[in-house]
Amino acid sequence: MNDIGQLIDEASKKIENANVATLENVRILYLGKNGILTQILKSLSQYSIEDRKRIGLEANRAKQIIESGIENKKKNLEKILLDEKTQKEKLDYSQSFYFPFSKGSFHPVVQTIKGMVSIFESLGFLSVEGPEIETDWYNFEALNIPKNHPARDVQDTFYIAGMKNLLRTHTSPGQIHVMEKQKPPVKVIVPGRVYRNEASDPSHSSTFHQIEGFEVDENISFVDLKTVLIEFIYKFFGSDLNVRFRPSHFQFTEPSAEVDIQCFFCKGKGCRICKNSGWIEALGCGMVHPNVLKAVNYDSEKYTGYAFGIGVERITMLKYGIDDIRLFYENDLRFLKQF
Ligand code: DAH
Repeated sequence: MNDIGQLIDEASKKIENANVATLENVRILYLGKNGILTQILKSLSQYSIEDRKRIGLEANRAKQIIESGIENKKKNLEKILLDEKTQKEKLDYSQSFYFPFSKGSFHPVVQTIKGMVSIFESLGFLSVEGPEIETDWYNFEALNIPKNHPARDVQDTFYIAGMKNLLRTHTSPGQIHVMEKQKPPVKVIVPGRVYRNEASDPSHSSTFHQIEGFEVDENISFVDLKTVLIEFIYKFFGSDLNVRFRPSHFQFTEPSAEVDIQCFFCKGKGCRICKNSGWIEALGCGMVHPNVLKAVNYDSEKYTGYAFGIGVERITMLKYGIDDIRLFYENDLRFLKQF
């Protein structure tokens, strides 16, 4: 009697402590073919009729208790597993959608590019992109920058192993890609990322963005260039500012110019942003050099064109009065959230 009571206690503890993997072992230990209770029931014939009855009754009761204990435990374990699973998959439909998710926004450089592209599109330009990995031909040679020409030194280049390829130092190679594929008339802008092998400081970064623009057709003149750029500047910065074209030099344009905009912080009086000159250098431009037209097999007697290149970060810095280009790449939310 006592033995069976003890046996029930022991079994109950084992059942309580069992998990999915061990519960079956407990069943086998007590109720299996050679299990403890099975043995007891098998051995009843040794006893007197009195004892047989008593022990048989007790053993069967124990068997029922252990069986139902195991059955209950099994159900409990299954329920826990199911709960864990539904918990994981559960969606709380009552949760408020006013939960303070902070909304993402475009990076200031991307915002500037989008703004510039839409202005140029309104002026009839088609926006295309070119590869960031270029060959010497596209980045230099076809743009009238021959090997060993000192103009190459201005653009410190990242060469890719073997020196055959390089990271484009400007978006001007986009001109060549477009003109190689398409006969005139062409009127295209090429926004994109460019690379220069130089140390970063407040006004330099080894990676930055430019927008190249150009138009080639019959009878294109400097007047067309001025019209497009002044229109762009008025739309982008406002129409109350003076603009001036200053002679300059680029290998791929002749004549070449740089465009200055009257400083929009001090309206020309002189301040920190314009370094007291009253003017801000905004971009480079010129009439496409005949050698560039020849490089893409355009008839340079028949066609003329203009081109320009604008630094996106520079323009953004000027527009918002930002004095360190590195702020664009540090991804400090305190900076980015202001745009
Ligand atoms: N590619 C020049 C640079 O990276 C910018 C530039 C100047 C582009 C004059 C032009 C241009 O198309 O006409 O500094």
